[in-house]
Amino acid sequence: MQATIVDGVFMWSAWQPERNLFFNSFFLAHQDGNLAVDPLPLSEADAADIERRGGVAWIVVTNRDHERAARAVAERFGAKIAASAVDAPLMSGPVDRALADGDTICGVAAIALDGLKTAGEIALNVIGKHTVIVGDALWGDPAGSLRLMPDEKLGDPARGALSLRRLAAALPENVLVGDGTCIFGGARSVLWACLEARTGVYVNKANPDELKWSRREAEGQHTSYASDVLDIDFAIGAEKLGYRLVRVDPGKGFCPLHWHAAEEELFIVTEGEPTLVTRRGNWKLRKGDFVNFPTRLSGAHKIVNESNACCELIMISNLEPVEVCGYPDSRKVLLDPIGLMVRDHPDLEYLDGE
Ligand SMILES: [Fe+2]
Ligand SMILES: [Fe+2]
Repeated sequence: MQATIVDGVFMWSAWQPERNLFFNSFFLAHQDGNLAVDPLPLSEADAADIERRGGVAWIVVTNRDHERAARAVAERFGAKIAASAVDAPLMSGPVDRALADGDTICGVAAIALDGLKTAGEIALNVIGKHTVIVGDALWGDPAGSLRLMPDEKLGDPARGALSLRRLAAALPENVLVGDGTCIFGGARSVLWACLEARTGVYVNKANPDELKWSRREAEGQHTSYASDVLDIDFAIGAEKLGYRLVRVDPGKGFCPLHWHAAEEELFIVTEGEPTLVTRRGNWKLRKGDFVNFPTRLSGAHKIVNESNACCELIMISNLEPVEVCGYPDSRKVLLDPIGLMVRDHPDLEYLDGE
């Protein structure tokens, strides 16, 4: 198998002379058990390599036409087979687990797609590695690009293109394809180039009722924070502006008091009466209010909902690759690109520890 730039992800391929592209399969090493995706027949050398790496615990088949050598590989390593709930009954034999959208298995999360050749096609988000794996949803052909299969093979090409935006929302650097040549690095713009080239569908627009909200609820002693968040920006191809809808539960807050060093934020109240907490006092907001947060300590902000009804806000900011946030109440500092949260005390001298 060939190692890839993605830590713990390996691949093996077979050239298809009649189609002039590679078929690819993937092996992912993971502490919960190793995973193989759409496995092609294995050479003895590759099988031995997998053996050395601890074998295969699970095989995920991304669509019913990519069963390939899954049964033989499962038998060799005693692996179990997973496929989407829709495709599972259509496979050549039994499936040990039917995957639904968002289900996780051995370090990957299933992304349900729609309108493609196989109704139950799933893609896999390799969690924490900015990488998605697709079976037939996208072909890496010509090499360096991505495309959908020919329209006549798709259930609904427009719906298929819209649904593939779910991959972009995972912010992939790499898109690993079952057919064609994988994209390593810069995959998000390659994906949007593919989607935006399509006619008959406008992929840069969405309505909140077409997107999936995510629940944010802190546990333990932090139950005063609870909200639903709808990230819209990356789902419709945003690159320079971030925007989301946020609904804050009655009696709960959205995030601790903080200020941004790089990203200027604008909140617009669309529903209810949230309370804005600042270092300059607390302010009751109302529907239609625009609130600006400058990129300095004076822009520190926190939203709490002291009312009995849900409140909703649109939150917009520029997107910067490097962001630093300060939390004045708790004297914390967040270095966003590396996700490091530290205390801002004790204050250190410039040469401390050198
Ligand atoms: Fe295929
Ligand atoms: Fe903020």
